Amino acid sequence: MSHAAPVIPEALTFDDVLLVPKRSPVSSRSEVDVRTRLSRHIDLAIPIISANMDTVTEAEMAIAMARLGGLGVLHRFMAVEDQVEEALKVKRCENLVIDAPYSMTPDRTVGEAEALMHEKGVTGIIVVDGEGRLAGILTSRDTLFADSPGRPIAELMTPRERVVTASPGLDVDAAKDLFRTHKVEKFPIVDDQDRLVGLVTIKDIIKRMRYPNATKDDRGRLRVGAAVGINGDYLERAVALVSADVDALVVDVAHGHSDQAILAIRKLRKRFPKIELIAGNVATAEAVEELVGLEIDAIKVGVGPGSICITRIVTGAGVPQLSAVLACARAAARAAVPIIADGGIRASGDLTKALAAGASSAMIGNLLAGTHESPGITISRNGRKQKLCRGSASVMAQLGRAHRAGFRQSEEELSEIVPEGVEAVVPLKGEAADVVKQLVGGLRSGISYCGARNILEMQRNASFQRMTPAGLRESGFHDVEVFH
Ligand code: XMP
Repeated sequence: MSHAAPVIPEALTFDDVLLVPKRSPVSSRSEVDVRTRLSRHIDLAIPIISANMDTVTEAEMAIAMARLGGLGVLHRFMAVEDQVEEALKVKRCENLVIDAPYSMTPDRTVGEAEALMHEKGVTGIIVVDGEGRLAGILTSRDTLFADSPGRPIAELMTPRERVVTASPGLDVDAAKDLFRTHKVEKFPIVDDQDRLVGLVTIKDIIKRMRYPNATKDDRGRLRVGAAVGINGDYLERAVALVSADVDALVVDVAHGHSDQAILAIRKLRKRFPKIELIAGNVATAEAVEELVGLEIDAIKVGVGPGSICITRIVTGAGVPQLSAVLACARAAARAAVPIIADGGIRASGDLTKALAAGASSAMIGNLLAGTHESPGITISRNGRKQKLCRGSASVMAQLGRAHRAGFRQSEEELSEIVPEGVEAVVPLKGEAADVVKQLVGGLRSGISYCGARNILEMQRNASFQRMTPAGLRESGFHDVEVFH
């Protein structure tokens, strides 16, 4: 008896397709709205998330991404305390009210105050008495011409009666009014007993005005995500990160449709019923249906599309990213769970295609790894400035983790490592904001080409067409010599 040959379905990725241009209602790119959802309860002004890779996202990148209206996900390849510290840096960086301002008692000396200001990088110290009641304020201007570093700060500070203060609970507009009226640069917040409970600085107000679309929590702090694994200390890590008020936990595992990943997600959900829980990575509708049943808040889609991934070469498994996003988004739409397209975005056109295919946002590694805000040093190779971009499953990343955990592998153990990622370099390319601006600008045009005004409309209107290799060749620049 002969068996029928199995039907092997075809799967496509970004370069296999184009979006069909449609009549556009948009007269200017600026009219296009790119707001979206990260997860079931968190909205974003732009659909871009920086990858939880050790060469992409620590606090500096996460701050930049949140200010721009996206989000950064802190990688997990560091000690729990270090990841918590990175999260706190993001949370502290743009408070309207600084909760615990640096303070000193009036008997301390100018020298001590200057040392503290220098160490903490601030330009003023709040002076309080032994009971924590406001006694004055000392700024670097007051100490500039002090004749002796041994003088008590009480002699140089602006005394309590001349300090402008406010009560707890003030909002941004009230703060702006105070700055406008009194022309001061900072004012302490005091309770009804005149005890110091906070500080508002003009610098923080300026930062707010500069980033009107920033992704913020309900206390006005920048939002940040943080990755956890599914083995070892992942639960303790999650407890520490949740205590540091991270806004989303991202389960970081290459094959998120596995018994162990599901067990870990169940435990995390049980332990933290309210935290935004992002699960992944998966690439099939079956996986999405199973994860949706675990009450997660978003799903990361991508098995093998990343620039530094060799999972498909090493294991033979994966799904070309456009088909993966199409299938997963359709399955997740039934439960209204957003999809994050993770990996393989090389240009704004890929971002547009991923969103048109149903993703609510895209996670980006490579394109951000070369920016100033990514962790790590800039190196010079053959006269070009570059930064490292390495796969989380690359040999060096795996070795680094083992060393940090105190393991020293034998040669035999080293030969057992089967990397699913590579170490690479990418060109140094300026600030993350410049990369994001190009991506968002291209996306806005792409949405307009689809005859839409926003991402949801594009998802309803978009038609993909397949192209041949000749179509792809024609799509890039050709028959010219490009200046570098
Ligand atoms: P891009 O293309 O933006 O992709 O650089 C970033 C995504 O790649 C994934 N990633 C890996 N995948 N082996 C893999 O198969 C790895 O070593 C690896 N490291 C990162 C990850 O999903 C990331 O967000």
